[in-house]
Amino acid sequence: MLPRPIAALDRLPPYVFAELDRLKAEARARGRTYLDLGIGSPDRPMPAPVIEALQGAAADVGRHGYPPFRGTPEYLAAAARYLGDRFGVALDPSRELLAVSGSKEGIAQLLQAYCGPGDVALVPAVYYPVYARAPMLNGADAWFIPTPAPAFLPDLDAIPADVLARAKALVVNYPNNPTGAVCDLAFLERCVAFARRHGLLLLSDLAYAELAYDGYRVPSVLQVPGATDVAVELYSCSKSFNMAGVRIGFAAGSAEAIDALAAYRTNVGYGTPWVAQAAGAAALARHAELAPAVAAEYRARRDAVYGGLAAAGWDVTPPSASMYAWLPVPEGFDDWGWVRAALDEAGVVVTPGIAFGPGGAGWFRISLVQPAPVLADAVARLTELAARVGVA
Ligand SMILES: Cc1ncc(COP(=O)(O)O)c(C=O)c1O
Repeated sequence: MLPRPIAALDRLPPYVFAELDRLKAEARARGRTYLDLGIGSPDRPMPAPVIEALQGAAADVGRHGYPPFRGTPEYLAAAARYLGDRFGVALDPSRELLAVSGSKEGIAQLLQAYCGPGDVALVPAVYYPVYARAPMLNGADAWFIPTPAPAFLPDLDAIPADVLARAKALVVNYPNNPTGAVCDLAFLERCVAFARRHGLLLLSDLAYAELAYDGYRVPSVLQVPGATDVAVELYSCSKSFNMAGVRIGFAAGSAEAIDALAAYRTNVGYGTPWVAQAAGAAALARHAELAPAVAAEYRARRDAVYGGLAAAGWDVTPPSASMYAWLPVPEGFDDWGWVRAALDEAGVVVTPGIAFGPGGAGWFRISLVQPAPVLADAVARLTELAARVGVA
């Protein structure tokens, strides 16, 4: 008999994606086919220069041993140049940057480096699951900040003083998964001031830094003067360059927090694979050439989805960033009822908003991970279902 795994694993709230997997498996067992717009995994290939860099690195015997812990000089320099080009910020690659094997892992490790038993992580009420689950696995608590529609920005004034007294970290993510919400630099300035005032680590998740449309330019927290005193921003190549399978990102910001993250990582791993860093360096070095094409494809998909919704009479506003459509559950359905009906009757897998925390109730998410015509067809089926069955 094995001993029991740690209690924190049992205390985590149920993982909604597991329930979604169960529904999909049931549908398959019944012989049903469906279009999966649930998970946000890019469907397009990596750019050719990235594939070449991966192949070149794999063939280089000099890169078969353990990689340098904090990142290869080539990758960190490419990341620093990207930050300079994109945001006009100058960071020291040796102290203020760190390679991570995907930003999810970096977010988890950074939060775990700061939030232990008795501590609190401040997490928006609609959130990417790792923000709460990583601190909880470490014995810390997550406190969910009200994040009201339609802006989906956290109401920092709503955090009670006794929670703030225990809080160690504040997480923000704009462009946002799942809501597609964006923020301006003034919001990030308020977050930096708030973190400074309350002695918090500010973690900004910029996984969707390059997926912006209609002239909107995603700001970085690092553009706020003095941000590197309190903030770390996490970047990912997964979405900007269709590289989710490579697992490469980086953390940038406070040298003190980067040291803490490096210390955590050295105790549990051996850094980020050479090949992944070579691919990441190739992507970041050519970001101005590669990322706009990726964004243009998602913009066309967004337009197909929102065009279809508008044609069906849905009063919804397209997001100016991200790769998701975040939509109200049609009248007459509850959250799971809608997800089940979408799968069973329209043959489309969507994610219930509650997968992203209490603030997601009453909403659902479509990932733009299929070509525009396929999405348009899926939207036609969903809106037809809503019109046919939904109105109570
Ligand atoms: C908001 C957000 N942050 C981080 C990640 C993780 O990205 P990565 O592939 O870099 O781990 C995702 C992935 O979907 C995400 O949506």
